[in-house]
Amino acid sequence: MKTEIDPSRMLRARPVQPGANGVLDDAAIASWRERGFAFVSGLFGGELMRRLFEEAAEMIAPPGSDEAETKRGFGGNLVFPSTISGLNEVTLHPNLLGAVTELLGTRIQDVRLTQSDLWPKYGRADARGALDNQDQRIHVDFPNHTLVHPAPWESPEAVEMIVYLCDIDGCGGPTAVVPREGSDDPAYRWPIVDTPGVGELDYLNDKESAETFFAERRPGLAEWRRSLYERERYVDFRRGDVLFYRHDTWHRGTPMIPGALRLVHNLTFRRAECEWISTLHKGWSWSAYSRGKFFERLLADASLDQRAVLGFPQPGSSYWNDATIAAVEARHGPFGMDMTPYREALAEV
Ligand SMILES: [Fe+2]
Repeated sequence: MKTEIDPSRMLRARPVQPGANGVLDDAAIASWRERGFAFVSGLFGGELMRRLFEEAAEMIAPPGSDEAETKRGFGGNLVFPSTISGLNEVTLHPNLLGAVTELLGTRIQDVRLTQSDLWPKYGRADARGALDNQDQRIHVDFPNHTLVHPAPWESPEAVEMIVYLCDIDGCGGPTAVVPREGSDDPAYRWPIVDTPGVGELDYLNDKESAETFFAERRPGLAEWRRSLYERERYVDFRRGDVLFYRHDTWHRGTPMIPGALRLVHNLTFRRAECEWISTLHKGWSWSAYSRGKFFERLLADASLDQRAVLGFPQPGSSYWNDATIAAVEARHGPFGMDMTPYREALAEV
């Protein structure tokens, strides 16, 4: 089922050099804001990427196994916070948080994490019905992320990303994106509802199933959707590359090399005030009873910025007073949490 892709339609990651002047460069930021995506390399060290891949690979079904064969490939079994240290490190990596603030044009204190999971996907030669994800239909992600509809294009509410943990050469299956070409691009006409799963349109994942459905029930839309496929560009990914995209970016997963494993890390951060964007997780604190107390240690070791994106009250929050500071110190102090910043902010009031 692997399709040959015209090399001129492949996108190479743009190298960035995080430093004192920020994480992303102007071109990457402009690409995300205007075209709907930024594909970059250089955010993470190679050691972290290798460690995360190797730790995760031990905890998922090996390619070719019965379990891998029966999976449609939806992730969710490896989520933040995790006993996999690399998963936590990537999720709260200063470069990642910095990039999110640059894309959203906001402070990290005004950003919240809503999704962080590893997604193993297994290559197969055959499609297995309308919900199969091997050769996805072109879609946008907002329907299962938000209660409403994304705000107008110029006011993005969230950043989605795919961190690739392996190379395309070994697994295939590049993500396809449709670059937005200006404010009157017909592909990005408003509202964005012509995608399976919205309104009365059934949720279908498989491309052939979805487009057959459209051809039969909405022939006009089928024609328009064909134009999206024709404009696809494909990320030529290497381990450590990151595709930043949005809930209103047209994209899809494409067929992999049969028998191969593709491992990626999916994350989403939203503006704190956008509560209509759901947290795709049972709740960070649900891990607090886990053996080894890894979540408490993570919280205690985290920087103020890292805690902020989890919703931990920031210094100066109305939550803090002498009593709550002492109480939280009683809970998290044994793991080394330093309450000084919260005390100092209280003293300043
Ligand atoms: Fe998607």
